[in-house]
Amino acid sequence: MNMKRELLKWCVGAAAFMAPAMADAQKNLQVNVAAAKADIQPTMWGVFFEDINQGADGGIYAELVKNRSFEFFKPLMGWNITRKQFQEGDLIIMNRADKPANPRYLQATVKNAARGDLGLTNEGFKGMGIKNGLRYDFSVMYRQAAPGVKLYVELVDSLGKTYGGTAVDLSQAGQDWHTAKASFTANATVPKGRMRVWFEGNGVVDLDMISLFPSDTWKGRPGGMRADMIQMLADMKPGFVRFPGGCIVEGYDLDQRYQWKKTIGALEDRQLIINRWNFEFAHRPAPDYFQTFGLGFFEYFQLCEDIGAEPLPILNAGMACQFNTAELVPMEDLQPYIQDALDLVEFANGAVTTKWGAKRAELGHPEPFNLKFMGVGNENWGPQYVERLKVFTKAIKDKYPDIKLVNSSGTDPNGDRFDYLNTELRSMNADIIDEHYYRRPEWFLENARRYDNYPRTGPKVFAGEYAAQTDKVVSIHNKNSWQAALAEAAFMTGLERNADVVTMASYAPLFAHAEGWQWTPDMIWVDNLRAYGTPNYYVQQLYSLNKGNKVLPITLNKDVVAGQDSLYASAALDTKTKEVIVKVVNVSGKPQQVNLDLKGVKSLASQGKLFLLQSNDLNVVNSLEQPKNLAPVESSIAIKGKAVKMEAKPYSFSVVRVAYK
Ligand code: AHR
Repeated sequence: MNMKRELLKWCVGAAAFMAPAMADAQKNLQVNVAAAKADIQPTMWGVFFEDINQGADGGIYAELVKNRSFEFFKPLMGWNITRKQFQEGDLIIMNRADKPANPRYLQATVKNAARGDLGLTNEGFKGMGIKNGLRYDFSVMYRQAAPGVKLYVELVDSLGKTYGGTAVDLSQAGQDWHTAKASFTANATVPKGRMRVWFEGNGVVDLDMISLFPSDTWKGRPGGMRADMIQMLADMKPGFVRFPGGCIVEGYDLDQRYQWKKTIGALEDRQLIINRWNFEFAHRPAPDYFQTFGLGFFEYFQLCEDIGAEPLPILNAGMACQFNTAELVPMEDLQPYIQDALDLVEFANGAVTTKWGAKRAELGHPEPFNLKFMGVGNENWGPQYVERLKVFTKAIKDKYPDIKLVNSSGTDPNGDRFDYLNTELRSMNADIIDEHYYRRPEWFLENARRYDNYPRTGPKVFAGEYAAQTDKVVSIHNKNSWQAALAEAAFMTGLERNADVVTMASYAPLFAHAEGWQWTPDMIWVDNLRAYGTPNYYVQQLYSLNKGNKVLPITLNKDVVAGQDSLYASAALDTKTKEVIVKVVNVSGKPQQVNLDLKGVKSLASQGKLFLLQSNDLNVVNSLEQPKNLAPVESSIAIKGKAVKMEAKPYSFSVVRVAYK
């Protein structure tokens, strides 16, 4: 690293956060509670989920076994064979013709084996997080002509020490596949465990879908999601979940695009594909990164329902990632792609008498999921996108006029690609335009007024992917620092102020595994046993939990508060709880005395609540060891008359809630 260059970059960036001259006089912020403006949509603050950084496989999908169906390019990747010296027997990979979605399985020929003689060990995704006292549920698909082979499963550490295990009953004979299940309790906590299976006896047995789940999944669902990670989402009360991405919607090529129909139904029939993040970055190779689709569209819809978020699926627009192959589907071949979109609406909302509604019911959810939004295309650009989008839009709107469609404005918030699409999409009267900004922190400060002059009619904006980059996009040096989060907090006052234009926003990416990431910064970091929120997470959470439902005007010297004296502010009304909510961001290193002058109320409660996220150190980060190094602190704030006097502390984000009459 060039230290001089890094230092210079930091100084330039930090200048935007420096204390301005004249920062000491009290700032009078006027809030007119009687002049509530636009509605703030319930969808305003949501989350963006993509299987990047081990977000799904090895992340929220709680499966502990990597390559459970032997379908990775290297069929035994993740597995190790253990064999006592001179022990006979073979473990080979077979490829059957009658199961094209899952052709491979393991065939074990076992000869006079006792437990410990011949076995297979799975390393998990960067190990397996094992918890003391927790039940683990093992399952395997098997067949053997005569029941001569027995199986034993156990959890071990890197030295082979065992932490619980049990025998697995493989006693059903014949040519058909059966599923065997067995559960056992772990007797220690091990952050990087492994799973071993031992063969016993004599015979030939076929095995597939060798699986191990912890029993403490989200809502205790067998084969479900990692509860601690999902809880962090639930704790944000997000207005929507955008899924499944991101670039994986597009795929490196069209073959590798995300196809929702291949992600529902029996697990063994969900055809695995390589994850595009496997090989996207030479500096962060992930050769073992595949998409098993153990989490598929049904599970994503169910997750949205669980946490009260609107589902926002994004579908492929007939275009592969334009940074990669940029393959296009010829216009005359687009119909299957459009059909996928139409069928998805039926899958989510259709009566159980329809083909896809019946499928949903068969999967255990006869009630509709009440899908309202759908995206066509992720980061697509150019006339090829517009041409395809028009056909999609007509077909979807003809059949489902109430579905709001999200359209891409490309990869950047400005430049030729953006200008072209923004103009085209507005002339098409798009419902919602998806804007992405991965930019330096100072960009976020400079753009806090971005939406003040946007057209008030026509398409709404979805700030679909954004995150301040302390270095530059795709740099491994980007940090989830307070500097980045504070800049986002400042920028988000502009989103809230313009909630009549911006109706949805989500930070991206969402999750990263400390050892399995490709992209940084990310909102929530995890290892096999722990998860923590970054300062960026807490900014998002504070906005989401203090959303309100009406925008209130807030001004400093009759102007919106967007950087004067390093202050940024927005205000909202919660008409249900009868509270005024004011957000104040101070990006300077000096405390500032702020007087919130609330007009248009009869009276205010004598005490309000203050949620404060603050550090004097812009470089501060959270970590697995110090997960709450920087986290919101709640206190009460005294109120006199109709004014709230507060100190906007150096480098701080304050949320004030005051009950009014
Ligand atoms: O969030 C990471 C990636 O950034 C997304 O997959 C893509 O849409 C964007 O380029």
